[in-house]
Amino acid sequence: LMIDASPQSGRKIPDTLFGIFFEEINHAGAGGIWAELVSNRGFEAGGPNTPSNIDPWFIIGDESSIYVSTDRTSCFSRNEVALRMDILCEEGGCPSDGVGIYNPGFWGMNIEEKEKYKLVLYVKSLNSINISVSLTSSDGSQNLASANILADSSVVSNWTRMELILESVATNRTARLQLTTTKKGVIWFDQVSLMPLDTYKGHGFRKELISMVEDLKPRFIRFPGGCFVEGEWLRNAFRWRETIGPWEERPGHFGDVWMYWTDDGLGYLEFLQLAEDLGTAPIWVFNNGRISHNDQVDTTSIFPFVQACLEHNSIEFARGSSDTKWGSVRAKLGHPEPFTLEYVAVGNEDCWKKNYRGNYLKFYDAIKAAYPDIKIISNCDGSSKPLDHPADLYDYHVYTSASRLFKMNNAFDKTSRTGPKAFVSEYAVTGSDAGTGSLLAALGEAAFLIGLERNSDAVEMASYAPLFVNANDRRWNPDAIVFNSWQQYGTPSYWIQTFFTESSGAFFHPSNIQANFSDTLATSAITWQNPEDNSNYLKIKIVNFGSDYVTLKISVKGLEAAINSLGSTTVLTSSNLMDENSFANPKKVIPVSDTLPNAAENMDVVLSPRSLTSFDLQL
Ligand code: AHR
Repeated sequence: LMIDASPQSGRKIPDTLFGIFFEEINHAGAGGIWAELVSNRGFEAGGPNTPSNIDPWFIIGDESSIYVSTDRTSCFSRNEVALRMDILCEEGGCPSDGVGIYNPGFWGMNIEEKEKYKLVLYVKSLNSINISVSLTSSDGSQNLASANILADSSVVSNWTRMELILESVATNRTARLQLTTTKKGVIWFDQVSLMPLDTYKGHGFRKELISMVEDLKPRFIRFPGGCFVEGEWLRNAFRWRETIGPWEERPGHFGDVWMYWTDDGLGYLEFLQLAEDLGTAPIWVFNNGRISHNDQVDTTSIFPFVQACLEHNSIEFARGSSDTKWGSVRAKLGHPEPFTLEYVAVGNEDCWKKNYRGNYLKFYDAIKAAYPDIKIISNCDGSSKPLDHPADLYDYHVYTSASRLFKMNNAFDKTSRTGPKAFVSEYAVTGSDAGTGSLLAALGEAAFLIGLERNSDAVEMASYAPLFVNANDRRWNPDAIVFNSWQQYGTPSYWIQTFFTESSGAFFHPSNIQANFSDTLATSAITWQNPEDNSNYLKIKIVNFGSDYVTLKISVKGLEAAINSLGSTTVLTSSNLMDENSFANPKKVIPVSDTLPNAAENMDVVLSPRSLTSFDLQL
């Protein structure tokens, strides 16, 4: 393998090359990174056939002691449904533990010893109330934390907000929240929320999951979908204005592509906040192409929606100063400083639809007129022929087999270097090669990413998809990070991404494999500077897709500084191509690092079968 590492040969890789794509899919947000523990906190969770239901709330007590129903008496006009509890048992005649309701959260709540949880609920009653709030084990037998809500009827005859902190005395991974009483009467509840106090930067995200994202050092975050943005039907598409403001007043919506309800606690502002907290560029995918999977607005009728897009302006909400109309809304919600929003994508995977181009152009013109600097991403693929419409970037998605994705490391070799650059916003090996996240899949992806590095004068951004899956609701397979209420692990596809964390903003150098290994090896070389100590590194990555050991002579020329003889190697491999990680064995297929004692310009190295190896040489 010959590498030209001379400064003249180096080509700067875009600072934005590798990032993440977050979609509300697989309960990635609701019941995922968003730390809300109550599922269906407003009793509004509608589905395809039911306008609202109380699932997964359950009743504690039998028919003779309690009757639970819903009505439309909430104090929140955009989510009117409230839960009504008729407690039928007489004073002293109720079970000693009381009757009421419980919520198991998203397949059980993770409650940790000595952690504090904030409970907020809205309550109304015609009588005085004495409600016991408790966190218990899944069958209610073990009490983890409890408190009482006592109030006179003069207080709770109108809807009243109650807030309290619960501190758990023990850890339970599948806990539930109970609201019970032994007092006869009628009680209404609405908007019941339970959040851990300790969240990522205090902004409501599960720390351990975001920590895995941080480790990928993403340069951008594309959100909130994917198909989630489109909806099966327009009525179920993501509408940003419905997701901002006090959480109690958000109507929530049924994501009919991935078939679950979200309270939209993780809304537009929270996404922007997450991007800011991660120090990464937000890429806002909006559905204002007014196109869903099954219905769309015709271009001849799109003008009012374009106007609405600018009047109800998501871009101004993100980046307008606090004296603009929508910037002031953001400021009132607690973020006076504008966010840095430099990219928007018009729709998702919609290029082939009848009205896409027509609608896109209307949005393009209107957005560019108002925000000339913003980069607009088209859904149409410009990798093999020029786009027939203006765009700053074009979206490119690929889901295929491992061998096909390996070969696609040259997908952009012939792409024009002029015109809009590619945003490979979704890529992954899928199908039988993938299992639920196999080594084989990850190696195909690694070769593809090496090709993107090589073609990073035509490709500006790339992200794997999907990023997260709650193991209890696997709507799409495979995914990069698997979690449940308390555990998480990276699939091999996650781990290969960690080999590319230094690439964005680094310098790419040409490399040549002398022997005929192009069907089984994919290689790249970058030089980069470690900002922590300003030292420079040469990083050589090699995928060995074959099933044999490969002995390789690496020759590096053109370096201005000598190679420190103590380097390191990192290898991702396993004994079986279909090996995966799991909750039981989360580290079966992870990168393993070792020292490289004789690092030099000329080295003989051995590559393991079915592996990705990185040689890290300090200069
Ligand atoms: O990543 C899963 C889905 O794949 C996305 O929602 C969609 O854009 C693509 O079809």
